[in-house]
Amino acid sequence: MRRVVCPGSFDPVTFGHLDIIARAAGLYDEVIVAVLINVTKQSLFTVDERVQMLRDVTSRYANVKIDRFHGLLVDFCANNGITTVIKGLRAVSDFEYEMQMAQMNYRMAKVETLFMTTNPLYSFLRSSLVREIARYGGDVSGLVPESVLARLRERLAEE
Ligand code: PNS
Repeated sequence: MRRVVCPGSFDPVTFGHLDIIARAAGLYDEVIVAVLINVTKQSLFTVDERVQMLRDVTSRYANVKIDRFHGLLVDFCANNGITTVIKGLRAVSDFEYEMQMAQMNYRMAKVETLFMTTNPLYSFLRSSLVREIARYGGDVSGLVPESVLARLRERLAEE
């Protein structure tokens, strides 16, 4: 079975992420979306919430599974028999850091990274901008799925 992992923070999942996940699902037998558990980074949503939102918005893709990991991505890959990572590349600004991680992951464990160019509709989109705009009352509809939009409104109302 051809499997690929799509790792990230997904705080929260955006249409940019979904575009990459959906296209990867068309290319691979199974796509594992892996949410990084990062205790040192403050997040808007808990890992459980992010996993749940991802499950909701990918439910139509039978071959997409949502998981979580902490530590090194290459260890998650080894533990799950995965040899390939897929990442979205938005712009040249993404490239340098992504290339370093890809080369390091290959050096550590021969894990390959494939880059998929982002749909130009979403090339400016990142979760941190969505959080910031939503926090200050800006309109993020059209950037995240409806269910995520509702969760964002709820969470920011609590703050
Ligand atoms: O959505 P993000 O925050 O840009 O995702 C970054 C992520 C999770 C893909 C990256 O930070 C990662 O793989 N972290 C796991 C720790 C690790 O393996 N570090 C070494 C990378 S060479």
